[in-house]
Amino acid sequence: MNISIKNIRETDCICDALILPVTEGDSKLYDKLGVSVQRLVRKVFSKEFKGKQNEVLLVPAPKDIKPERILFVGLGKKSEISAERIRQAGGRAAVYLRDMGMKKVALSTGGIASLHLSQVSFIEGALLGLYTFKRYKEEKNNKAIGSITILSKPSKELANELNRTKTVASSVCFARDLISTPANDMTPTHLAKAALSLKRKNLSVKVLDRKDAERLGMGAYLSVAKGSNEPPKFIVLEYKGAEGRPLALIGKSITFDSGGISLKPADGMEKMKYDMAGGAAVLGIIKAASELKLPVNLVGILPATENLPGGSATKPGDIVKSITGKTVEIINTDAEGRLVLADAIGYAKRFKPGAIIDIATLTGACSIALGSEAMAMMGNDSGLMDKIKRSAGNTYERVWEMPLFDEYREYIKSDIAEIKNTGGKNGSLVTAAYFLYEFAEKTPWVHLDIAGTAWTEKDKPYIPKGASGIGVRLVMDLLKDFRP
Ligand code: BES
Ligand code: MN
Ligand code: ZN
Repeated sequence: MNISIKNIRETDCICDALILPVTEGDSKLYDKLGVSVQRLVRKVFSKEFKGKQNEVLLVPAPKDIKPERILFVGLGKKSEISAERIRQAGGRAAVYLRDMGMKKVALSTGGIASLHLSQVSFIEGALLGLYTFKRYKEEKNNKAIGSITILSKPSKELANELNRTKTVASSVCFARDLISTPANDMTPTHLAKAALSLKRKNLSVKVLDRKDAERLGMGAYLSVAKGSNEPPKFIVLEYKGAEGRPLALIGKSITFDSGGISLKPADGMEKMKYDMAGGAAVLGIIKAASELKLPVNLVGILPATENLPGGSATKPGDIVKSITGKTVEIINTDAEGRLVLADAIGYAKRFKPGAIIDIATLTGACSIALGSEAMAMMGNDSGLMDKIKRSAGNTYERVWEMPLFDEYREYIKSDIAEIKNTGGKNGSLVTAAYFLYEFAEKTPWVHLDIAGTAWTEKDKPYIPKGASGIGVRLVMDLLKDFRP
């Protein structure tokens, strides 16, 4: 889809549909477009349209102007306007027009001019909302918008922001593709290939195999891989856009989580292909950062493996040794995420990172606590967590902080090893994070549990149902000014 900026009048724009974003009850917004549009807006507002958030109405345009049709899209109350509302309206309007078969679309920004660079938020919503996953099913009447023209005065700032947003949105969609791909086609080997495809100047990719991991002493990670015939791949990316300590980004990359010997129930197990959504987000972030040539030093780590039962699978009660030397008693083989992340955190420390952020579909308890509205955040660095909270506000990839009280240590004490991998049902969202904390120790570290947000069951204005690609926009916003 082509996106361009043109400084022409709405009435002179030849297009299938002109989008007019409007706030609730505000029928005067487009008075300057002339009498015929004025009359149309007054008529529409008197009955069929209120301008409520995400409300849409497509009508034929008056004969004396160039656009064929006008799409009104509601933004809700003027006093409550925000980047998020505009993003949602963008997604809603674009998806609606696509489904109506519109090809050439234009966006008037008169109604949203009060918010700086609001056109960009609108386009962001459109790009994210129009995403489809078509690898396995070609739609018969494949509808697609060909172009969106932003009717606006061009500026360097607008062009830059638009470019940044396009890059980030396409990285979100890249992550969504990886997550949606089923586990037979998204094995650790495939994920490693996807990572290798990102290689470029300033971005190196290294893939460690089972032997390498054995040599490094990653007993926790390897214990998860033991039940599968798919070879594990421990994927390491280094993006060097600046000197100084790197930020290490770790993404849980279980390409399928059956639970292992502690087998999950069959119901819903097919969803466990998305247990690599953290890893996909990390790849998306590193892809976007390198394309935008961000002045930052990043290390990405994806401990990829399947978690399957089998003749040589790890059994409950087994004790393994992690890269840090800590011994772990495995109580439940379905608590595999923290095992692979423990070794990834231990490995990350070799890079002397200024901070570590891990992104993981770690616990079912996360969805129980927060549903699909927020990810859970825990960590040992309140300064970094505050910055993440601010980015969460900017991107609407919301986070909610949970505590890491010292007392939780008791929950995961083992009688015969240094630590055990589950602490029982109570507090399991937090004890999973506490387990990771035991490996991060003094290194500034933040954990983001995306189990509830990585996959959506219902279409949202700019997240079609399925993989959300969450984490990419959040961390890309953080990297606007955060340096570890
Ligand atoms: N991958 C799951 C968590 C998950 C569940 C993600 C649902 C997305 C949707 C994780 O590996 C897991 O199985 N966690 C267990 C831990 C338990 C055995 C302590 C859980 O949360 O039930
Ligand atoms: Mn599991
Ligand atoms: Zn899992």
